[in-house]
Amino acid sequence: MEKIRVETNSKPYNIWIDNSFDLLLDTFKACNCHQSKLCIVTDDNVEKYHLKSIQSYLSQISDQVSTFVFPYGEENKNLQTVYRLYEHFIEHHLDRDSIVVALGGGVTGDLAGFAAASYMRGIRYVQIPTSLLAQVDSSIGGKTGVDFMKHKNCVGAFWQPEFVFINTQTLGTLPERELNAGMAEVIKHGLIHDADYFYFVMQNHEAIKNLDSKLLEQLIRRSCEIKGDVVSKDEKENGLRATLNFGHTIGHAIERLLDFKLLHGECVSIGMVAAAYLSSHMGYLKEKDIEEIKTCLGYYHLPLTLKELSPEVIYDELFYDKKTKNNVLKFIVLKAIGSCEITTTSTKSDILHCIETIYPNN
Ligand SMILES: NC(=O)c1ccc[n+]([C@@H]2O[C@H](COP(=O)([O-])OP(=O)(O)OC[C@H]3O[C@@H](n4cnc5c(N)ncnc54)[C@H](O)[C@@H]3O)[C@@H](O)[C@H]2O)c1
Ligand SMILES: [Zn+2]
Repeated sequence: MEKIRVETNSKPYNIWIDNSFDLLLDTFKACNCHQSKLCIVTDDNVEKYHLKSIQSYLSQISDQVSTFVFPYGEENKNLQTVYRLYEHFIEHHLDRDSIVVALGGGVTGDLAGFAAASYMRGIRYVQIPTSLLAQVDSSIGGKTGVDFMKHKNCVGAFWQPEFVFINTQTLGTLPERELNAGMAEVIKHGLIHDADYFYFVMQNHEAIKNLDSKLLEQLIRRSCEIKGDVVSKDEKENGLRATLNFGHTIGHAIERLLDFKLLHGECVSIGMVAAAYLSSHMGYLKEKDIEEIKTCLGYYHLPLTLKELSPEVIYDELFYDKKTKNNVLKFIVLKAIGSCEITTTSTKSDILHCIETIYPNN
């Protein structure tokens, strides 16, 4: 089992990576998370594949394990589901010593984490991420929250887990499209902070797609290290953490405009292509780098272009991003593959130029 330490100011904790749940109970015990009331939160997809085994493990360390299952999907990451979760907590007498166990993808982690952050002014929670996106991204860093009136993650809190336990074998039941969407964030990690990692992900694409367990473990470990390191240095996103938004400025705009028809990672893929062109426009990336980025995204069947919408519509939407302050657009650009910087000086014409590159005839 691998251990990665996350050193946030509010709470240091470990990410454990293994290829089974065999050591899950030891991890609960080591964190003094046993002998409490436990509430497993999961969606009705993950329930089918992984709930039974987690229930049977956890019932060995606590005789008060309850389960809350909600319908899968982003449309249920809202306050109505949180309301039902609070009802469940109260009906099952969860108290300040109880622990919420988030078992699932990013929707489950964000929702259960937010309920834990707010119930009784904050109770402990544990992340057991089962989607690739959750394993390499959303379970780390303590951002929790729900959507409100179509505003994504509009209501939330920073609340760090007691620990994150990743069993890479859970990816065996994840639909391929979801796996590929998670790969967009993995590729992003390489592009912004580690060129060798980017080329590792590119060269080993066949084996990774076939879920080679050694490579998957290596990949998840490196992504957790990169994300863990960034959030340790900048928990509340005052600077460095913003670099994780590479591809997200335009990606988020597309995601909203298409009303969430494309998966988050798919929108980020298109957004990264546009941001790569912006990086080249600024004199940083070479044409060859852009081709490599597109090739790598293509290996994971991620979209590179967009047929719908228009550059102007996407441009206007950028100003509705919750990270856009005082109408100043912020982009993460690559200085080279493996290193990045934050820029706020791009002009409207620079930005439109890079958005135009994601349309097929350009
Ligand atoms: N908190 C953060 O820092 C952060 C970062 C990035 C994304 N997010 C959030 O994460 C969410 C997206 O995460 P996601 O892509 O994991 O979405 P998700 O939780 O909806 O999972 C995607 C789909 O895969 C299914 N699934 C998950 N694990 C499975 C498994 N092992 N086997 C079979 N099916 C499985 C789910 O039921 C769902 O249908 C968004 O709400 C986004 O806002 C949060
Ligand atoms: Zn993302």
